[in-house]
Amino acid sequence: MTDAPIPVPASFKDARITPERYAELYQRSIADPDGFWCEELKRVDWIRAPSQISDVSFDRDDLHIRWFEDGVLNVAWNCIDRHLPARASKPALIWEGDHPSRHHAITYAQLYDHVCRFSNVLKGLGVRKGDRVTLYMPMIPEAAYAMLACARIGAVHSVVFGGFSPEALAGRIRDCESAFVITADEGVRGGKPVPLKANVDAALELAPGVKAVLSVRHTGADVGWVEGRDHWLHERLLDADAHCAPEPMNAEDPLFILYTSGSTGKPKGVLHTTGGYLVWAAMTHAYTFDHREDDVFWCTADVGWVTGHSYIVYGPLANGATSLMFEGVPTWPGPDRIWEVVAKHKVTVLYTAPTAIRALMRFGDEPVRAHDRSSLRLLGSVGEPINPEAWRWYHQVCGEGRCPVVDTWWQTETGGHLITPLPGAHALKPGSASFPMFGVRPALVDNEGNRLPETGAQEGNLVLLGSWPGQMRTVYGDHQRFIDTYFSTYPGMYFTGDGARRDADGYWWITGRVDDVLNISGHRLGTAEIESALVAHEAVSEAAVVGYPHDIKGQGIYCYVTLAAGREPDAALEKALKDQVRKEIGPVASPDAIQFAPGLPKTRSGKIMRRILRKIAEGETGALGDTSTLADPGVVDSLIAGRKG
Ligand code: WT7
Repeated sequence: MTDAPIPVPASFKDARITPERYAELYQRSIADPDGFWCEELKRVDWIRAPSQISDVSFDRDDLHIRWFEDGVLNVAWNCIDRHLPARASKPALIWEGDHPSRHHAITYAQLYDHVCRFSNVLKGLGVRKGDRVTLYMPMIPEAAYAMLACARIGAVHSVVFGGFSPEALAGRIRDCESAFVITADEGVRGGKPVPLKANVDAALELAPGVKAVLSVRHTGADVGWVEGRDHWLHERLLDADAHCAPEPMNAEDPLFILYTSGSTGKPKGVLHTTGGYLVWAAMTHAYTFDHREDDVFWCTADVGWVTGHSYIVYGPLANGATSLMFEGVPTWPGPDRIWEVVAKHKVTVLYTAPTAIRALMRFGDEPVRAHDRSSLRLLGSVGEPINPEAWRWYHQVCGEGRCPVVDTWWQTETGGHLITPLPGAHALKPGSASFPMFGVRPALVDNEGNRLPETGAQEGNLVLLGSWPGQMRTVYGDHQRFIDTYFSTYPGMYFTGDGARRDADGYWWITGRVDDVLNISGHRLGTAEIESALVAHEAVSEAAVVGYPHDIKGQGIYCYVTLAAGREPDAALEKALKDQVRKEIGPVASPDAIQFAPGLPKTRSGKIMRRILRKIAEGETGALGDTSTLADPGVVDSLIAGRKG
């Protein structure tokens, strides 16, 4: 923190965005947004160019967010067709399978062919414009084809991460009334199969509204089959036409739904629309990564998360880039896998998560140094705050001190980067997300909602003062929840749920969630969801879940459980409760620690004091603060005594 910032390296002196250009464009984006966006919207090909830029109100009684409202376009056209004249034989995707022997490139011409045929298969199954289609897919090219095929015909995809359970999948299918599911027989990760089709079959017992399931034959495993409902993609492709005209879509027509966890209730269906999202994904991909025509861009996320949507599929492909899609895990077959892939495909930009960096760091420098990394010119980080130690290792060892690290802060809700360094514009401070993207106005408020001064070092709750094109438009099917969640804590502003500080030089540092949302290995989970999974077990009377620092995952899941009268804690019950959470939510939510507690710390009005539970889980038992308002201060001592180390 006290170290001098790391200056822009000579290799980025001719970047598109220099320090002067950043200052000029940022200033323009705020002072003259219409002028700024009139230029930026040209990144995208419009069937009809918009005549209006934005119509936005963050007033909770009149909340609406519209960008480029009368524009007409098609996302798949922008990601494929328009590149054909100049880039037909350029790889659009490079697929690297779980096993290192399996990899191939898909050119833009081939992508056109795959997506058109896939679109016609969907139409043949009865998918129409506006229909919701749920994807539960491994990281194979068909996942991208399926997303783009939906976009091509105007269907709305909802991708559900393969690490979610059948119950969780069923909830998401039901919530958006999706009648179509696309999956594969199995996925493979780290040499182990993931039973995707079997999970879909189990989910559909709980979501009977699904009319058709389309499966990719990937591993060739035997799977269950329901005649009339289930279809193989390869069979349906046999007579699928090779051309499919892209559907003209209004800028504000929905493009996709992506479920994400909040501090209360079930996951929310974050809705993104067509024009603003695409402009934002393309613009941020171009600026943050200083995109060059010959880049090989590798974002290691899964398409089940927003990072995969914006920076594997939509942003890179809209820019005509080569995007690498990886099916496996960073540590299989060995801890050098990432670097082997970098060398094999001559990756120029690597975008990964702090949790992966920390996991690799444990294996030391040798696996990194074993491979040629001279192709790399830029590194990115996303998903959670990156600790300076991991940042420095990433920068020094992985990037040989040559490659800037862009620490990109954003959310499912924001569609793309909101605060990030630009590699040619900003000297870097390890651990800082640095400066706002063009058009973004971050600010800090105290807990009462008072704005903190705009100069000097400040720390508080992070809000955004205005809209940007990639902002989510609503919670699918529940607009009131959208308003309540984001625009009611601090009226007139979008509340991010994060805390942040701005240092004396104006750099932004994200300090982490200030609400009851956990970030486990960059995966977002709500404490309320995990608590309700636990109390659904007959032995449990009450549960409280908090996060605690975890060396690799960033945060771990710590559960306090009070048992029903007559139930005794034992190892079997502890395992049963972990299984219960895996069943209700999925392996992504496996608890790290379960502490059986005779009672939870509550105020006299019955409110659980989570602050105290967090401190105990963190092991900071000497700093519990004021416990005098507790109904029974005695519970604290027994909680400390029972702490799981
Ligand atoms: C939350 C959003 C961003 C796409 C993947 C996660 C945390 C994300 C950073 C960062 C510090 C970060 C925030 C945010 N987060 N990126 N660079 N530095 N924190 O999207 O699942 O919607 O989670 O991830 O807490 O609110 P998400």
